[in-house]
Amino acid sequence: MDANNILSGKKILLGVTGSIAAYKAATLIRLLVKEGAVVKVVMTPAAAGFITPLTLATLSKNEVPMNISDHNSWNNHVMLGRWADVMLVAPASANTIAKMALGLCDNLLLAVYLSATCPVLFAPAMDEDMWRHPATRSNVDKLVAYGHLQIPIASGELASGLFGEGRMAEPEEMVAFLQQHFLKKEGAGSLPLSGQTAIVTAGPTIEHIDPVRYISNHSSGKMGIAIAEALAAAGANVQLVLGPTPLQTTHTGITTWRIQTAQNMYDQVNALYPQANIVVAAAAVADYRPAVIADRKIKKGEAQLHIDLEKTPDILRSLGDHKGAGQLLVGFSLETNNEREYALKKLREKHLDLIVMNSLADAGAGFNYDTNKVTLFDKNGKEQSLPLKSKQEVARDIVSAIIELQHA
Ligand code: PMT
Repeated sequence: MDANNILSGKKILLGVTGSIAAYKAATLIRLLVKEGAVVKVVMTPAAAGFITPLTLATLSKNEVPMNISDHNSWNNHVMLGRWADVMLVAPASANTIAKMALGLCDNLLLAVYLSATCPVLFAPAMDEDMWRHPATRSNVDKLVAYGHLQIPIASGELASGLFGEGRMAEPEEMVAFLQQHFLKKEGAGSLPLSGQTAIVTAGPTIEHIDPVRYISNHSSGKMGIAIAEALAAAGANVQLVLGPTPLQTTHTGITTWRIQTAQNMYDQVNALYPQANIVVAAAAVADYRPAVIADRKIKKGEAQLHIDLEKTPDILRSLGDHKGAGQLLVGFSLETNNEREYALKKLREKHLDLIVMNSLADAGAGFNYDTNKVTLFDKNGKEQSLPLKSKQEVARDIVSAIIELQHA
């Protein structure tokens, strides 16, 4: 079974609610239709303030009902819910999520949702404060407890002008999520990691000093992207959290989340973590950032300039501290000296299952090369020193070690 044609002929019922992200519904429908899916749309009256039913009807080639009755005829919400292979509510506003959690039914979309017998997916979109409110947290938990699947939200610029969590996933990411959903459902085969979700961090982070300068490192993202691709080839649904790099991957089993700072990476990884079986932290995350970001360009003046730095959150350590049963954590260790000692310390202190040690003292290893030379240490005391290999081969060795640990 191939992710590239898994959506062909699938009946997708898209529920659009009142959120500025409703404009993305148009692109989503176009992408789904291009994949061969049959799309029907139902929208709330509030959604029509953000995008017209005519646009969505034209793109989906199907009427878009909005009310329980239109022009003296009754819209059969039960049959719509029964028709679909999957119902995707995107964007799912805080209001609609709350009503879905309570079973309220004051519009057609909610009536369809309550009568749907198919799997339900939802892609939240709202402001960060609304997303973090305990009421929203508990409503989302309820939907997940009902067996619905939440498409992870993204961090970035929000409609309010603020930055943070709350952006709806991009249409391409939702298509990838749907593909993975159907691949899993149809038993995409007996690949060793089928049905598992893996997060991979990759690339550098950048920490702003002022509007024109930042602190970063030489990571290209090659190692992390190779790992994401090896995990996807082994059947995992991969969430790649990628720092600034011109590199990308087009593997259909991988959803890419672009971030800039260590804090962005921390937020994105934590949003994805509850659904993850495996995390591989290959990113070179800045350990320090300027305590204050100047809002104007710092002018050249004194002979010396001092910038106060503060620690960034240690993403891997926090994942290790909150590791759930069955979650497997893989870290990297990059050093220039005392490599073994430091790697084993990180394995222990960050509660990892496996650590991949690479050293800048080894020719052809580390940043930007197409090759790497690594030693793997696992939590059971196994040590595996590998020769210099391509990053793709190293990635496959890491994935084999992960599979072995899952069966240990
Ligand atoms: O991207 P390439 O050019 O292909 O280069 C690959 C690589 C050299 C970046 C990669 O092989 C590698 O070693 N990545 C980890 C680099 C690093 O930051 O290592 P560290 O020893 O400082 O960190 C230990 C672990 O904690 C790492 O898994 C790191 O992702 C994680 N970490 C570190 C700091 C932080 N604030 N949060 C973290 O999660």
